[in-house]
Amino acid sequence: MFAAPPLKMSDVMAQPDLLIIAPLPPFLYDPLRAGYRCHDYYQASHKPELLAAEGARVRGVVQGGGTLTPSVLLDALPSVEIISVFGVGYDGVPVEYCRHRGITVTNTPDVLTDDVADVAVGLILMTGRGFVRANRFVQAGKWETGGPELTTKLAGQRVGILGLGRIGKAIAQRLAAMGMHVAYTGRKPQDEPYRYFPDLASLAAASEFLVVACPGGAATKNLVDADVLAALGSKGTLINIARGSIVDELALVDALQAGTIKAAGLDVFADEPHIPAPLLAMDNVVLLPHVGSATHETRKAMGDLCRANLDAWFAGKPLPTLIPELL
Ligand code: 8YV
Repeated sequence: MFAAPPLKMSDVMAQPDLLIIAPLPPFLYDPLRAGYRCHDYYQASHKPELLAAEGARVRGVVQGGGTLTPSVLLDALPSVEIISVFGVGYDGVPVEYCRHRGITVTNTPDVLTDDVADVAVGLILMTGRGFVRANRFVQAGKWETGGPELTTKLAGQRVGILGLGRIGKAIAQRLAAMGMHVAYTGRKPQDEPYRYFPDLASLAAASEFLVVACPGGAATKNLVDADVLAALGSKGTLINIARGSIVDELALVDALQAGTIKAAGLDVFADEPHIPAPLLAMDNVVLLPHVGSATHETRKAMGDLCRANLDAWFAGKPLPTLIPELL
């Protein structure tokens, strides 16, 4: 059913085969289809047959930031040279395996930094100033008969950022402009005007908002656990715009149910798009459907960069954004 049509050698040289393993927007997919032989593994109903028919010719893989790429899939692609991630996060890519096999990995940093940082600020405003509840209050017609709740002033409150990378710095800049006091933790202190805590639990204890902004993956799995949430305490709100895997979601539900922490604002989840049912019913929780980079401008820029990496690779040119581990 997936028997490859006979190709002239010149066609093979001109159009490298790509395996598409995530849903892609048309502004990325259409130009890819024009320049490459794209095999839609994501949509294929007979994936093993597709791999059997085309796997040997695949030279590039395109995936999303949240896509998990098992090494057994790459085992079925003996000629694969590059994985181009349509996203900044590449926690779903087996990087060590790729290094071992000499597979190049690229991502889309920088172009989404502002948008993701905006979402972190939005979640702080929505949770801290109760804007979602206030909006529901107006929509329910309750303003006709009563006044809105009072919340707490944000300027002067302390925000701890877990991971002061590009996105963490953009968040810090925005919050400092709002008059909030920023501190952070990470692998090492940086030359930035914010207080450094070597330890996450101490940072949480000293924060009204704890913002998760570090990469996902094995190294950060469940880093925000029951102990960190206990340290954040009933004064504290957890904000996550990074990866659901960084937060122990069951511990988070427990902490919210028990009142161990005050509130949460979440754009990412451990098993998207599935969200633990108790979170859906909580008034002190604001949930977004992973919209950090979801603007027309940014997704287009991400798509252009994802394609530029592929084009550069197959033209033998320098890669715009090779992941740091492979530099
Ligand atoms: C995107 C992301 O939703 O960049 C990332 O790592 O998680 C998001 O920006 C995703 O990559 C789109 O596939």
